[in-house]
Amino acid sequence: MTMTGQQSEARPADAGTAPLHVAIIMDGNGRWAKRRGLPRTFGHREGVKALKRTVEGAAAVGVGRLTVFGFSTENWRRPAAEVSELMGLLKAYVSSDLERLAKEGVRVTILGRREGLSPDVLEVIERAERRTAENTAFHLQVAFNYGGQADIVDAARKFAKAVEEGRAKASDLDEALFERSLSTADAPPPDLIVRTSGERRLSNFLLWEGAYAELVFQDVLWPDYGPEHLKAAIAEFATRERRYGGAMVDDVLAAG
Ligand code: FPP
Repeated sequence: MTMTGQQSEARPADAGTAPLHVAIIMDGNGRWAKRRGLPRTFGHREGVKALKRTVEGAAAVGVGRLTVFGFSTENWRRPAAEVSELMGLLKAYVSSDLERLAKEGVRVTILGRREGLSPDVLEVIERAERRTAENTAFHLQVAFNYGGQADIVDAARKFAKAVEEGRAKASDLDEALFERSLSTADAPPPDLIVRTSGERRLSNFLLWEGAYAELVFQDVLWPDYGPEHLKAAIAEFATRERRYGGAMVDDVLAAG
C-alpha cells in the first residue's frame, strides 16, 4: 500500500479535492450470495475480500482515513449463525492482516459498544488498537457493534455522569464538548459517506459525524467493490460544492 500521509487531523476536505475521510456502509453481501444460490455467510466472506481491496487501494486515491460499518447494534437481530460468522470474520480479518497493516503504518480503531462482545472478540480489538496506536500514515476505523444513536446516548450518559458528580455544569455543554465523548472523538468527521447496493439510507451510521458529509450511493453490491468504485465515488464527491450551511460561492461573489 502506498500511503500519502496527507491526513492532518481535523482538516475537512475542500470541494474539488479528494476526501480525507471516507465512510462506507458495506451493503449487499446477502443479495450477492443469494444471486449465486449461496448462503448469506458466503457474501460476508467475499465482503472481507472487498474490504481488503478497498483498504489497499484507498491511499492511492487520496483517502487518509476510512471508516467502515462492520456490525451494527441492530445486527444482533440476525440469525445466530450469521452473527457468529460476522464475529468470526472480524477476528479472522484482524488476525490475518494486523501485522501487515501495522507495518504499513495503518492505525486501526474499532468504534462502537464493547458491552455484548465476547472476550475473544474484545481481545483482538484491543490487540489491534494497541499494536497500531502510534501509526499515522492511514487510519482504518471499523464500526463494530456500533449504532449512531447508541453512540450519542452513551456520550450523553458520560456527560450526565460528570454533571451528577459535580465535574461539569449543564451550561458547559456545547457541540465541541459533546463530540469529545463520542467514540469517534479523536477523528475528523467523514467528508464522504458511501453506501453500496443501491439502498439510500444511513441506517444509524455516523448520525452526528455525518452532519455535513456528502452522500454517494452506488449500485454495486459490496462483495464486488474495489478501488475503482471508490475512485468513482470520489470523482462524484469532487463535483459537489460543500457549503456547511453557508451560501453558494457564486452567489457570494455575485453579491460583491
Ligand atoms: C450488509 O450486507 C453488510 C453487513 C451487515 C456486514 C458487513 C460485513 C462485512 C463486509 C464483512 C465483515 C467485515 C468485518 C470488518 C467484520 P447485508 O447482509 O445486509 O446484505 P443484504 O442487504 O444484501 O442482505
